[in-house]
Amino acid sequence: MAIQVSNRAQSLAPSQTLKFSARAKELAAEGKSIVALTAGEPDFSTPNVICEAAIKAIKAGHHGYTMNTGLPALRERIAAKIKRDQGLDVGLDQIVVSNGAKQSIGFSMLATLNPGDEVIIPTPYWVSYPEMVRFAEGAPIFVRTSYESAFKMSAAQLEQAITAKTRGVILCSPSNPTGSCYTHEELLELAEVLRAHPDVMIYSDEIYEYLVYDGEAPSLFTVAPDLFDRGVIINGFSKGFAMTGWRLGYMVAPAEIAKGLAKIQSQETSAPSTISQYAGIAAYDMPLSDLEPMRQTFGSRRDRIVKRLKAMPGIKCQTPPGAFYVFPDISELLGRVTDYGVSIHTSTDFCMEALEHAGLGMVPGDAFGEPNGIRLSFAASDDQLEEALSRLDAFVGGLTSTSS
Ligand SMILES: Cc1ncc(COP(=O)(O)O)c(C=O)c1O
Repeated sequence: MAIQVSNRAQSLAPSQTLKFSARAKELAAEGKSIVALTAGEPDFSTPNVICEAAIKAIKAGHHGYTMNTGLPALRERIAAKIKRDQGLDVGLDQIVVSNGAKQSIGFSMLATLNPGDEVIIPTPYWVSYPEMVRFAEGAPIFVRTSYESAFKMSAAQLEQAITAKTRGVILCSPSNPTGSCYTHEELLELAEVLRAHPDVMIYSDEIYEYLVYDGEAPSLFTVAPDLFDRGVIINGFSKGFAMTGWRLGYMVAPAEIAKGLAKIQSQETSAPSTISQYAGIAAYDMPLSDLEPMRQTFGSRRDRIVKRLKAMPGIKCQTPPGAFYVFPDISELLGRVTDYGVSIHTSTDFCMEALEHAGLGMVPGDAFGEPNGIRLSFAASDDQLEEALSRLDAFVGGLTSTSS
């Protein structure tokens, strides 16, 4: 019997970020010296108090399924957190806990989109957004932002992108891949546009909210709580609490949307991991100040990496206020030739050559819909960062312009 891979599976693009980190691992396994700044996860251990809570849950016999939408005790903590941090009053029926924020976003799309619905996605975007919209039979509509605007969508750009078919807009602040954060004023301007379009849902991915180094990264719904009647907050534990492997995230939305999502979840995965949910309770019971050492470490690494990038000829780099990524502009280097004769036309060429020949792992802006950028993660040790930047410096130094 011939096997079949569905059109749906075939039409999905594989994650470009995973592709580059997989190639980096392959080269390392072959014995090559590789320094990878491709990680999308903190290089820290989960705080001990969280680990202890999980061990306690196992020993106490919490081995079964939980409620489909998550343990009430965890949803209570999430509601209290949403009140404290976002200033919103939400009921437990508005919260659905999932196996990671990624699943929360994917299920949110499935729960809210009909075929042909347009969803506005500012570029550079997190790799999974367009595919998740497509998987839900929606149409991603890209709004290209620029280095000069710190990769933030303006109110005018948003207004211009909205059509009669627009059903949603995705905001990610602090952003993966750029680390940009919308300010209070910028969100007010976006909110004003959105108020005039009541059919547009707003998906706000706030997963990096605790990794902010300069100023604040408020939620759109803190600035404009009236818009939460068609809002979906996406959040989770992966980044702020160094819990990527625990697979725990959630969405908070109007009860009807939460109910739709819960139905999808009930048929697809039942409920998130019980052990991880107990860990999540401990995470939200922890004082936020316990996360400070990790945040400060990321902050000082950011300063170091930005300083070195700024000193490299042909590279422009802004200082990202949040997350753990820098997204320098390499447009000046495109069109150059390596010292072994290969032409670099795209950010993908740039990263592929740097990986294969300099042993340096980065992710091309092409993966995020921005051809002029590259993403470097500073979720790496000081030594790794120094070595990676020296390799980048040497690689860039070896590029010559074809006219010279
Ligand atoms: C912007 C953004 N949203 C969501 C996620 C998914 O996080 P989780 O580990 O909770 O699925 C990631 C992870 O890389 C991310 O960068």
